Amino acid sequence: MAIIGKDIKQAIDVLMAGDVLGLPTETVYGLAGNAYNIKAITKIFTVKNRPTFDPLIVHTSSLERVHEFVREIPEQAQLLAKHFMPGPLTLLLPKKEIISDLVTSGLDMVAVRIPNHPLALELLINLDFPLSAPSANPFGYISPTSAHHVDNQLGDKINYILDGGECKVGIESSIIGFFDGEIVVLRKGGLAIEEIEAIVGKVRIEEHSSSNPKAPGMLKSHYAPRTKLLFAADLLLLEEDTQKIGYLGFDKIHPNISLENQLLLSRTGDLSEAAKNLFAYMRLLDARGFDKIFTELLPEKGLGRAINDRIKRATTKE
Ligand code: TXA
Ligand code: MG
Repeated sequence: MAIIGKDIKQAIDVLMAGDVLGLPTETVYGLAGNAYNIKAITKIFTVKNRPTFDPLIVHTSSLERVHEFVREIPEQAQLLAKHFMPGPLTLLLPKKEIISDLVTSGLDMVAVRIPNHPLALELLINLDFPLSAPSANPFGYISPTSAHHVDNQLGDKINYILDGGECKVGIESSIIGFFDGEIVVLRKGGLAIEEIEAIVGKVRIEEHSSSNPKAPGMLKSHYAPRTKLLFAADLLLLEEDTQKIGYLGFDKIHPNISLENQLLLSRTGDLSEAAKNLFAYMRLLDARGFDKIFTELLPEKGLGRAINDRIKRATTKE
């Protein structure tokens, strides 16, 4: 069990010692360490059981400080930063030497994010180094949206979790890269495509692939619960023992499954509320010991697109 607390000073001490901690952000909790310290970075990969080909996002407190470790910020990136940083947006930018190849898995681009969370920002402002932080879950499993989620999964491997309450956005940041003048969304996330396009015009959305992904968080199977997660339409429900089946729905209960086995992401059909609940509800259902969990896709607009992306990748591939 890790200590869960709100003590910024203790958090600073842990990080200054080259150790890692649980970091609250508005999207999901991160597993954070000094981005300039190889020992801390190595520990992040070990604790998460993450392959070193999967690079880390670097978090800082302001756009001015991004220049400490980034060579240049293209005009379109500056425009997006002006509108959405701090916020659920990650930009791929050309790195300076000070960022180790270990952080970027050898790539020339570093992923940069300014989290919109008061405690995270207070911490970052008081550090003289940025923080590398992937989501604080074992590789491939559901991302954590509360300090207790982090403790449940990584509590025996880390000493401190900074408690910033439940994450308000609930899904990871949107990742955007700039390639030969083209703006590419590499991961759909907490900032809706519509909001991005309102500022910079049409963007290309890179669909995920299972081999050689540009952002390995885009691996086809990711964010998955342990219990089999399947689309309700995949099987004839009448043949199932519905007592052993859970259901993760959007706004309407499923008529053929026991009511107490169902969780709805938003009874009012609110996509932001659904995003906030998504991972926590997957965990709750996963802990119930069902044979299978059925689910459905949400409307493919706004945050529904990022939610559907996570649901598709969390469903069991057979
Ligand atoms: O909301 C978030 O982004 C959270 C919070 C903690 O900030 N972080 C997060 O980190 O989701 P992680 O490591 O779970 O996912 C980051 C994704 C990975 O899929 C990684 O491959 C991609 O970002 N990424 C990181 N650096 C990259 C780079 N230089 N080029 C391409 N993709 C990169
Ligand atoms: Mg992750």
